[in-house]
Amino acid sequence: MDPRLQRRVQRYGWDKASLAYEQFWRRQLAPAQERVRALADVAPGSHVLDVACGTGLVTFPAARAAGAAGLVVGVDLSQEMVNLAAERARTLGLAQVRFERMDAEALTFDAASFDVALCALGLMYVPEPQKAIAELHRVLRPGGRAVVAVWGARTRCGWAEIFPIIDRRVASEVCPMFFQLGTGDMLRNVFEAAGFTEVRVERIAATIEYASADDAVGAAFAGGPVALAYSRFEAQVRNEVHAEYLDSLAPYRDAGGAGYEVPGEFVIARGIRA
Ligand SMILES: C[S@@+](CC[C@H](N)C(=O)[O-])C[C@H]1O[C@@H](n2cnc3c(N)ncnc32)[C@H](O)[C@@H]1O
Repeated sequence: MDPRLQRRVQRYGWDKASLAYEQFWRRQLAPAQERVRALADVAPGSHVLDVACGTGLVTFPAARAAGAAGLVVGVDLSQEMVNLAAERARTLGLAQVRFERMDAEALTFDAASFDVALCALGLMYVPEPQKAIAELHRVLRPGGRAVVAVWGARTRCGWAEIFPIIDRRVASEVCPMFFQLGTGDMLRNVFEAAGFTEVRVERIAATIEYASADDAVGAAFAGGPVALAYSRFEAQVRNEVHAEYLDSLAPYRDAGGAGYEVPGEFVIARGIRA
């Protein structure tokens, strides 16, 4: 897929998903985000970069940990995500945090500007993740650390049918390499290839709970990476994709029968810039 097209699909897709994102994903992504925060271990006064920051679910806790003497910058490809996060920063009165629209593969910061660089569940959407990891490495000061979370292997993510269901209806693949980084040693390899040392990788098994079919469908189509394609579907196609997706989740119905408990896996890596 043309990288420019992938970036456009991501940028405008996440613009569309921005308002629904926290409603559908906040609880589901929390285990990965909490682990990123723990491994980041942000100290008061730190300078922190959060790449693909979305609405700031990882950025704001980092800003609180860095405190008034710190500086935390969240960047994201989607202007709507950046606007939402900036608005929240103003509401919270957190002067040490700011947000900018920026591509993970082309950070505009000087080398060695940050103590900590984070990227929670954003790297799967980047056309060339190796470039984005190299950028994290470049902007860290020597001794600084990067922590990255991605979704795990396709076979361990029960919601994975979402991609072929969309791809059968639109010409462009939404995220061709989505599960690649979470497979085998891939994340460790890209960290080491970028020059990180002391690389540590963890896999976390998670259960993605949806209270209802509406929640499962909302998370998959309105609040996530396929939101742009979905927004262009007619009502009938929407009904078809909902039905196909719910069929694919049928093995994961919860005990009550109204909701779903879908298996998921996160892979989290931490590395130090030598
Ligand atoms: C699943 S959200 C994760 C947001 C946040 N890190 C969190 O943990 O809630 C993925 C984010 O990646 C952003 N994104 C996708 N491609 C990107 C790129 N090339 N550069 C920067 N951000 C990107 C999207 O706009 C979206 O906000």
